[in-house]
Amino acid sequence: MPFSTEENLTDLAVERWSNIPDPRLRKIMTSLVKHLHGWVRDIEPTEEEWIAAVNFLTETGKICTDKRQEFILLSDTLGVSMLVDSINHRLSSKATPTTVTGPFHIHDSPEIADGQSMSGDAPGIPCFVEGKVMDFDGKPLGNVMLDVWQTDGEGLYEAQVEASNAYMRGIYHSKADGSYVVRTVAPIGYTIPLDGTVGGLFGKTNISPYRPAHIHFLLDSPGFHRIITHLFQKGDQYIETDVVYGVKEPLIVEFVKKKTGEKAPGGEVMTTPFYVVHYDFTLQKLSQAKAA
Ligand code: BEZ
Ligand code: FE
Repeated sequence: MPFSTEENLTDLAVERWSNIPDPRLRKIMTSLVKHLHGWVRDIEPTEEEWIAAVNFLTETGKICTDKRQEFILLSDTLGVSMLVDSINHRLSSKATPTTVTGPFHIHDSPEIADGQSMSGDAPGIPCFVEGKVMDFDGKPLGNVMLDVWQTDGEGLYEAQVEASNAYMRGIYHSKADGSYVVRTVAPIGYTIPLDGTVGGLFGKTNISPYRPAHIHFLLDSPGFHRIITHLFQKGDQYIETDVVYGVKEPLIVEFVKKKTGEKAPGGEVMTTPFYVVHYDFTLQKLSQAKAA
């Protein structure tokens, strides 16, 4: 083995890291070394810049708690979370596509009956999301779990408000005919948390830190691919610049404006203006091959 030179260092390091019995770890580490060296060779950092990068990662780690994950936020904003999601959910184009989970999902939300509200007294314009859950043949799927979470009408999730009970989240189940009705308030677009290292980095860019208004859904049914996805409001000013690259075209839906006195999906005559969103979810059977 030769001693190191600028030219041979990458080969030396890759060869050293090839010495791993587990083939998967070997692949991960040798590829990491190759790409990391490629990046360093490309940018040729000064020693000050390299220390600044190390300090950035150190500070990012220090901000992380069991409630806040700044590294995931970094991965989200670099588009890596969406890439990992896409690689792991190569569903048929007939299936409702997946998108990032994000940091605001809370397990064990309360069960809510079809058509009942998951928003309680939260501020915002009433909004009904209704449709069907079905398979590729259009066959309705009953008893599918729909775990739903979102911001209130002021752009805040449960984790960002003083809430003693579940806030802006609930678990619904589709009825035997595949139909579901979620009653909520319309979400609005919001910024990712900007008070950490990721926010500091954004402050040095012209990149929009906003996510367009969206509602998160997790759908689960035995025998089908579990999906985590969002529905995005068509026309939102941030729809084309989502800071975490989460928007996929089939997930953009119209929030149809209704007037006072019009009927909600459950038949109730509403006493305020409201929105109705229609979306049919299509689930892929586990036995159906993944897309190439
Ligand atoms: C969200 O959907 O709420 C979200 C996703 C990624 C980063 C920050 C927020
Ligand atoms: Fe969100």
